[in-house]
Amino acid sequence: MSALLAVDGLDVFYGASQILFGVTFELHEGQSLALLGRNGAGKSTTMKAIIGLAPPRRGSVALRGARLAGSPDRIARAGIGFVPEDRQVFPEHSVEDNLLIGAKPGADGRRDWTLARVWQVFPILARMKGRMAGRLSGGEQQMLTIARTLMGNPDILLLDEPSEGLAPVIVERIGELVRELRDMGTTLIVAEQNLHFCLDIASHAVVIDKGAVVYTGTIDALRADEAVMRKYLAV
Ligand SMILES: Nc1ncnc2c1ncn2[C@@H]1O[C@H](COP(=O)(O)OP(=O)(O)O)[C@@H](O)[C@H]1O
Ligand SMILES: [Mg+2]
Repeated sequence: MSALLAVDGLDVFYGASQILFGVTFELHEGQSLALLGRNGAGKSTTMKAIIGLAPPRRGSVALRGARLAGSPDRIARAGIGFVPEDRQVFPEHSVEDNLLIGAKPGADGRRDWTLARVWQVFPILARMKGRMAGRLSGGEQQMLTIARTLMGNPDILLLDEPSEGLAPVIVERIGELVRELRDMGTTLIVAEQNLHFCLDIASHAVVIDKGAVVYTGTIDALRADEAVMRKYLAV
């Protein structure tokens, strides 16, 4: 089976400093991949390289065998949905308008995600559809950002630390939501420092440390590998 997304040998630099060193992994249709590593390991940079915000100096990213290149807009239109860690909402617009701003057919014309489906999957947003997005809590804004990205009908959803800075009970809710998306067949990559958050979400894991991949395998095998967990993750 050929990969839906192939990340191959990415070297990324910020100015003179090299941040990623040959980052390589694959993602298959329907898979949920945890991109794990400590703070500063290079998780966000890997996601930014995929979406075109941190173009690699060497290496490539391919979606269904076609190389992804160009502006973040163009790469998003090719089928990558990115939810950045700073959860950007349009604060002066209503929840519903935020969703409509993100609405577009997928790269192959699919329109699986509609307002009606968002209201179904995110009932909390349905109850707040007329509220200004800037008045939502951090957890609600995180959900809105995920929902808005889904409205673009991406082939792959990239979530950068969706649990960051949220209260444990909200983290639990976001976890349930991501699990639900996975069960619907959404192909996704979730970047996390928090292994625990990923255990019930991801099927596979890539661990990065100092900008290089140090583990690739199933999440169950990672969970059984105390040495890797202790060395590279804060567990
Ligand atoms: N804009 C930037 N300019 C220079 N260095 C950066 C920039 N963004 C991140 N870095 C550095 O790159 C490394 C990886 O950062 P990042 O990808 O954000 O890690 P993570 O998401 O795993 O916490 C860190 O050492 C960080 O300090
Ligand atoms: Mg990060």
